[in-house]
Amino acid sequence: MEKIKNDYRYLIHNPSRDTKGAREMFSIEIAKKARHFHRQIPGYKMTRLVSLSELAHMLGVEGIYIKDEAQRLVLNSFKVMGGSFALYNFLRKKLGTDEDLSFEYLKSKECHDKLGDITFASATDGNHGRGIAWASQQLGYKCVIYVHHETSQPRIDAIRGYGARVEIVDGNYDDAVRKIAEDAKKYNWEIISDTSWDGYTEIPTWIMQGYTTILLEAQEQLAGLGISRPTHVFVQAGVGALAAATVGFYAALYPDNPPKFVIVEPEKAPCIYESIKNGKCTSVKGDLDTIMAGLACGDPSPIAFDILNNNGDVFVVVPDYTAARGMRILSCPLTGDPFVISGESGAVTLGALFTLKNKNCPDDLKKALALDKHSNVLMINTEGNTDPIQFRRVIWDGLDPVPKKFTEIDIK
Ligand SMILES: Cc1ncc(COP(=O)(O)O)c(C=O)c1O
Repeated sequence: MEKIKNDYRYLIHNPSRDTKGAREMFSIEIAKKARHFHRQIPGYKMTRLVSLSELAHMLGVEGIYIKDEAQRLVLNSFKVMGGSFALYNFLRKKLGTDEDLSFEYLKSKECHDKLGDITFASATDGNHGRGIAWASQQLGYKCVIYVHHETSQPRIDAIRGYGARVEIVDGNYDDAVRKIAEDAKKYNWEIISDTSWDGYTEIPTWIMQGYTTILLEAQEQLAGLGISRPTHVFVQAGVGALAAATVGFYAALYPDNPPKFVIVEPEKAPCIYESIKNGKCTSVKGDLDTIMAGLACGDPSPIAFDILNNNGDVFVVVPDYTAARGMRILSCPLTGDPFVISGESGAVTLGALFTLKNKNCPDDLKKALALDKHSNVLMINTEGNTDPIQFRRVIWDGLDPVPKKFTEIDIK
């Protein structure tokens, strides 16, 4: 049942814990395959796992760990992990092989001669398009990216910087997805979309599987700290692909004892939240006007929804200033904690944790979250300052301040 309290809305969900789908899509073998592929990408290295131990102490939990995807390759966001793995699988399929292929081979003249000209295409609200443009350029293929008219210039420039053609489409992200799907048929482009729809699930599945490299790395890093698994995972959702990959990976790894999964969205674009509330995929209409550009999606991905519906524990929607507060906490941490550059979509989970630890947190939510001094919370900083101008507006100019009545966080 939906509850409205304070400045956020929440749903305590009773998932079926049917992990069949998660185990099929996100088995450890698949995650290892993705990791094996990503390791070959020039410049690949593990992103850091940051421990915010002072903040954890302040919030009364054992640990807060941030997987810092701002440092992923040169791309400032996690997204390339999905897009590159999808391109890899697409090319393998086109070559008619199940064999592992090297990055070098995929770039080679021999491979290009076999496959001929290919143009990859996708809609984006910024980061996915940047990842696809980069991976296409690395592998030597053409790329066309559609963005919607609210997409900021720095995001567009970044995509063009990797040689892609960028078209600006009327409407929002979901309109851009629909438009490129139509145009791809006309021009014979190959759509590499991170969201799924009826009859289009294979590529979005590969994209979600590509994200599991991030989680496999995080597991290794946590193990190095003597932590076998996080007790809580907070993850942000746009169309839900990253959230489903994260939840699915951990549900498959620990089917009998999964972490608690908390899914966070902006109040202006809560398509996963509305879908869980209604028990079926539900679109959110309107201009999706949120500072969290990466999460500004109105149509959930159906394959992601199924995983989240079966396994997610708590769904929360928060106002924009929750993300802005998360960005400020990360960039200006407590003494002793390292700083993290995090963009709006990257920081919202930490902002949400901070909000939820307020003493005002309703009892049923507190019970459902079960955050205590034994909790180790994992989050993904999904982007750095992917829009540096907006980043400075928030951090330097104090854009989206927390309203005064919500500034008195009482955590004890
Ligand atoms: C920075 C960032 N974080 C999170 C997400 C959410 O991912 P998904 O759309 O798979 O839910 C996106 C999506 O573009 C993003 O760019």
